[in-house]
Amino acid sequence: MSEDHQIIVTVNGQKYQRHVEPRLLLSDFLRHHLSLTGTHVGCEQGVCGSCTILLEGEPVRSCLLFAVQADGRNLTTVEGLSDHNGTEAGRMHPLQEAFWEAHGLQCGFCTPGFLMSLLPFLEENPSPSEQEVREAISGNLCRCTGYQHIVDAVMLAAGNMIAKDGSEES
Ligand code: FES
Ligand code: FES
Repeated sequence: MSEDHQIIVTVNGQKYQRHVEPRLLLSDFLRHHLSLTGTHVGCEQGVCGSCTILLEGEPVRSCLLFAVQADGRNLTTVEGLSDHNGTEAGRMHPLQEAFWEAHGLQCGFCTPGFLMSLLPFLEENPSPSEQEVREAISGNLCRCTGYQHIVDAVMLAAGNMIAKDGSEES
């Protein structure tokens, strides 16, 4: 019988202390222990990207990590996007708004994973080419959109974010 471990994690700026089994996946921890069900679980083997979250700002597949590996770390899930830099109070993140405007989702199952993969990508590369966007999303699978609308959404988000930064500076 395995013994529970105490872990303390900060998720979207909030600290949580929980006791977990060592075999508990991080994705299941987020969904079932913290009720953060925006992180979706598709394949549970690191292929689909639906479970992507940020660990210390870097995208990771939460189905490939155990919850105990997140002990003492900072995580961001899709629920934290509306509080992320670049979001005005009471609004969605510009990336979420662009997905909405450009029809970058249909069923939406894959969307949290795309958003969490794309957030650090756009922060590092605020003016990407279409080809760079396609490479950035190459680790995320979508069954519905055919990807073109997702690429369009990212290009729209990039343009909107640059325009916003420019207007803040002037
Ligand atoms: Fe984690 Fe598919 S559920 S990569
Ligand atoms: Fe349905 Fe991507 S919108 S899987």
